[in-house]
Amino acid sequence: MSLPEFTKAIELINYGGEKDSFRVGQRKIKSLGEKEVLVKMYAGSINPSDLMYVRGLYGIKKKLPAAGGFEGSGTIFAIGEKVSKVKIGDRVACAANYVGDGTWSEFMVTLEENCFPLIEKVTLEQGASFFVNPLTACGLTNIAIKENRTGLVQTAAASALGKMISRYAKRKNIPVINVVRKKEQVELLKSEGFEHVLNSEDENFEKDLSRLAKKLDIRLAIDAVAGETGTKVLNSLPFNSKLVSYGALSEEPIQVNAGAMIFSKKQIEGFWLSYWIAETEPSEFSKIVIDAQENISTDFKTEVQKIYSLDAGFEALDFYKNNMTKGKVLFKME
Ligand SMILES: NC(=O)c1ccc[n+]([C@@H]2O[C@H](COP(=O)([O-])OP(=O)(O)OC[C@H]3O[C@@H](n4cnc5c(N)ncnc54)[C@H](OP(=O)(O)O)[C@@H]3O)[C@@H](O)[C@H]2O)c1
Repeated sequence: MSLPEFTKAIELINYGGEKDSFRVGQRKIKSLGEKEVLVKMYAGSINPSDLMYVRGLYGIKKKLPAAGGFEGSGTIFAIGEKVSKVKIGDRVACAANYVGDGTWSEFMVTLEENCFPLIEKVTLEQGASFFVNPLTACGLTNIAIKENRTGLVQTAAASALGKMISRYAKRKNIPVINVVRKKEQVELLKSEGFEHVLNSEDENFEKDLSRLAKKLDIRLAIDAVAGETGTKVLNSLPFNSKLVSYGALSEEPIQVNAGAMIFSKKQIEGFWLSYWIAETEPSEFSKIVIDAQENISTDFKTEVQKIYSLDAGFEALDFYKNNMTKGKVLFKME
């Protein structure tokens, strides 16, 4: 079968993050390396990491021009000579390499290890948001499981990922204190049946969190906000607590009081999905991937609020940035 020479893609041409930082056009498809595959993309999703990346604020900076998008889904169209884990025709959830291609593209070249074959019950639309959030929800909740924690506090709890963590933790009998920033987000989470929901903007937030964390003996927080919220959460945790930082939605630093680290034994560490995947034992990781797929319509459900064509480019990112709690935004290929 002859391979396409070019693909339509949304390319990033500078790290300004403005409308003119993107172009939608034809991009040359590179020849496949031994361990690479060509995926005919079904959809590519937009995540907070993309909003940071397109402004040059993420942990990865590709040489430009590069196609945008880190995660998506599609069908394996061609494989390199030494590919063994996927085959042509497999439906996969996939992630982009750290160079060149991205998921906001009709075709994407990526490494085979960045593709997870989807089980029959998972649709390609569900698969488009499978790689990043469900696996991160498992990774973060597993910190509590592995460390025998009595529960966890989480910020940005009304996010797609936050809701997955709450549902998965419930299945694992781990109490969660959910922290959100708006009244309607408190109501949303309560309507989903989550018992402990606090608003970081309330006057008594720190006192309430401190009291509840003490009552439930919770000494672990996972934080996606940083800035003032992350700082308040760290301060409100009991003696000998740990905060795991995995996002910086506020784009502000956490302020750390040295005395809290020294005398109250507070700790901070980071979590990044890429490192967690690399560090998890392969057989354990495979079980996690299957469990997450089996529960894709329940614990790891993603609401998709809007679907755009690639031609929308920047408009889709701008819409997502202003409507994050309402659900994911996807680029769907024609
Ligand atoms: N470290 C990792 O490996 C990893 C992997 C996956 C995801 N993440 C991180 O996980 C977080 C959630 O991702 P997602 O895809 O679930 O997000 P999402 O569904 O798009 O939701 C984002 C949520 O964050 C809230 N938010 C935005 N800015 C905020 C701020 N300054 N303070 C408090 N809340 C704010 C939004 O609320 P509003 O509606 O009020 O704006 C929304 O509820 C992101 O920070 C993402 O980068 C990290």
